[in-house]
This record gives sequence, C-alpha cells and structure tokens, in this order.
Amino acid sequence: MTACHESSSAKAPTIRVTPPGPKSLEIWKKEKKYITPGLGPDTLCIPIVFKEGKGSILWDVDGNSYIDFAAGILTNSTGNCHPKLVERLRKQIEQLWHVHDAPTPDRYKLLTLLAEKTPRGIDTFEFYSGGAETVEAAMRAAISYTKNYEFIFFHRAFHGKTLGVRSALLWQMKGCGPVLNAVRVPFAYCYRCSFKLQYPSCGLHCADYLEEAVRYNSSGNIAAIIFEPIIGGGGIIVPPEGFLQKIADFCRHNRILLIADEILTGVGRTGKFFAVEHFGIEPDLILFGKGLGSGFPVMVLGGRREIMSAEPFGLPGGASTTFGGNPLAIACALATLETIEKEGMLKSIRTVGNFISRRLNEMQEKYQLIGDVRGMGLLYGVELVKDKKTKEPAYEEGKLIYIECVKNGLRLIAQGPLIRFSPPLNIPLELVGCALDIFEGAVSKIEKKRE
Ligand SMILES: Cc1ncc(COP(=O)(O)O)c(C=O)c1O
Repeated sequence: MTACHESSSAKAPTIRVTPPGPKSLEIWKKEKKYITPGLGPDTLCIPIVFKEGKGSILWDVDGNSYIDFAAGILTNSTGNCHPKLVERLRKQIEQLWHVHDAPTPDRYKLLTLLAEKTPRGIDTFEFYSGGAETVEAAMRAAISYTKNYEFIFFHRAFHGKTLGVRSALLWQMKGCGPVLNAVRVPFAYCYRCSFKLQYPSCGLHCADYLEEAVRYNSSGNIAAIIFEPIIGGGGIIVPPEGFLQKIADFCRHNRILLIADEILTGVGRTGKFFAVEHFGIEPDLILFGKGLGSGFPVMVLGGRREIMSAEPFGLPGGASTTFGGNPLAIACALATLETIEKEGMLKSIRTVGNFISRRLNEMQEKYQLIGDVRGMGLLYGVELVKDKKTKEPAYEEGKLIYIECVKNGLRLIAQGPLIRFSPPLNIPLELVGCALDIFEGAVSKIEKKRE
C-alpha cells in the first residue's frame, strides 16, 4: 500500500503484490513470443498487464491499482471510460460503424466546432487515424500548394516514424535508409543551448541562425517548416518568449508555410486549446489529435482552404484514408470536446498545472538528480542529471525512478533521463498530490542509493 493511500480516499493507488505481479508475468511471458520487441521502453521495462481503467485510475490483473500520469500516451483527455463518452460511443456502436468518408450529421457538427476552435484562417479539415500519416498529409498539402519539396525541421522534433516524417528524426532513426532533403536547426533548448549562450542575453541567436541554415542547406525550394510549439517527445521543451515569433516572421518573409504539429499539445493539454495560442502564432496548417478521441484514434489536419484545395492533395481522393473520421471516432471526438467544455477543464488544467509546477520546482531545489523542470498546463517534464554542474544525463537513474514509481502505484512516461507528467485533463487534485508524493519518494530513494 502506498504512503498517500490514507490521505487520498479510496481512489488512491493500492499495491497488493509488487508489480509486475504473477498474473501479469504469466500473460507477458506468453505474449512476448509473438509481439514485436520494438514496443515502448516503459512497457519493456516493467510489463504490467492492465485490465481496467476508470478516470485517472488503472487496475492490473493482479489487483494493483495505479494513478495514470501518462493518460495512455497523452491520449485519454477525459480519463479512461468517461461515462459521457461510454454513453455516446455505445449509442454510435448500435447505429453506424463505417461509411468511408461519406458525410454524417455528427461529422458536420464536429467540423463546425473545429472551425470555431482552430486559429484564424483555418477553415478546411480532413480526418486521419494516426499521427505520422497526418503530418505526411500536411506535407503533401504544402508541396501541392507551394510546388516546393524541402522542409525545415527542428533538432529533437518528433513527428512520427513513417518514411517522410522520420526525416525529422535522424537523431533517433539511424540506419533506416535515405531521407528527405531538409534544413535542420536547433530548437530553443535553453537548458542545453546549442550555441552555449544564455537567454535573454543571447538575443535569440538560435532563431536568427535559421537564415544562415536555410542559405547553406536548401536549394531554395522550401515548402514549409514543421514545428511542435512545445517539443514533446524530444524533451518537453518550452521555447522562450519571442523564439517562435522570430521563426514565424522569417518564414512569412520567405513564403515558407507554417505547419504546427499540435498532435501532442493540442486539445487543451497546455491550458489553451492549442499551444500556438500561448505564442501568438497563426499557422497555415495545424494538426492535432492525440487527446481528441480520449483514447479512440482520431486525428485532424486543418488548413486554409486554398492550401487544402491545391492539387494533387485537393483532387478527389487526394486527402482521404481508409478509417479517417469514421463515425465511432467522430462520436468520441465530439463527446471529448463537449466534456472538456462542460467540465470547465481548460481552467482546471491551469490550476492543477500550477500545482505540479510548484511541487516539481521545490523538488528541483532539494534533489541533485533533478536538473531541469519544464512544461505548461498538464504537460510537464523533468530532466534527470547525474550532476547539476556537468548536466550529464542520468539514464540509469531515470529507469530506476520509473520502476520505483510503478511499484508504488504511479504510471508515468519515462524516456531515458526524461520523466513526463501528463495525466488526464480532469484528474482530481488530491490524486495529483499523491502522484507527486510517490515520484518524490522514488527520487529520494534513488538519490540516497547513489550516496
Ligand atoms: C508531435 C507529434 N507528432 C506526431 C506524432 C506521431 O504520431 P503517431 O505515433 O500516431 O504516428 C507524435 C507521437 O507521439 C507526436 O508527439
């Protein structure tokens, strides 16, 4: 039983048998023979077999319960099995499953809602099922419109793993063959500045560097820059004020389209519906979806009509896919948006996010292992280091802290020395306190072990 069990009512995690328990291990042993070894490191590190989820709590087959600080993989905006979503999906399941991309009454409702919520100028949409295919669709639209074929990517960006978008991901996908012609530039990662400068005295040199990078790394045929307003998988990196604005100004000046990849940051995750709203950026194309279906696969590409209509992307069949926007996905997206609105989540995200930020910053003061704390809304990351001066990444400690958290009933996202905190958008505050107690206990234990 975890330390915070008593203080946080019956919802707090309960560990009956050290995870992974015997039933989990038995299932995993059998499954392992058939499933790819390329699963996520979290699963491989401690293979728990989950059988149920309600709101922000998950149960495994051994009777343990966990606080869900991963929200699937930043997908379950309203938590697992929100009653309103279950009701809506159940109704849809009995009505209509799939009619390819033919119009439905609910799709029209969703489109009108999206047109209200997306940044100015975005008025045309297409639905997809996965993130990478949505980014690739945006690239096809940008190529169709500009008749150019090069892209600008940021270092540490993550846009997916299909052949086109993995061109942004050379740092993670070595050995996968040829990539697209692209200009790759550093993001404003101030904790480890590529130019060894300090904000604000740097004058945002990293943004100015884009001009030089384009001059020497492009043949003058750039279609678009693809950017995450806050880098997600690559480190939860929030750029300082002015950075994205400078980048956007350069691109506008040079007729380079702005493609905001908000697959991870969109749908309220950062406290505003889209993260670009924090920075005053109005992109030409925007994509989002991790949190749109609360765990049901549905992604959206939105853009200005003239871009989305450009041929060949805008030709009949040029934008559509097999499952994109099927009625079940549309039902989940509508119910998620309505629930976020009805339950006033954008406001509570900021309150709960401030609480997380305060607690993590206090921990940073206290523990040598916590090098940096970054984030916004309900998207936080802690970068672990072996030493605050050298900033040597603490890979092994990251793994040990993650395991310790899971063993005490907290599921979060671990990625080497980066621990990500991204609970459902409606997580109750008392559970957040409990989760942070478990995390602090784990950091303290692993730090003491090193001494
Ligand atoms: C910003 C961003 N873009 C694209 C993707 C790729 O999505 P998928 O894994 O569904 O292809 C991800 C996935 O994490 C992401 O975070």
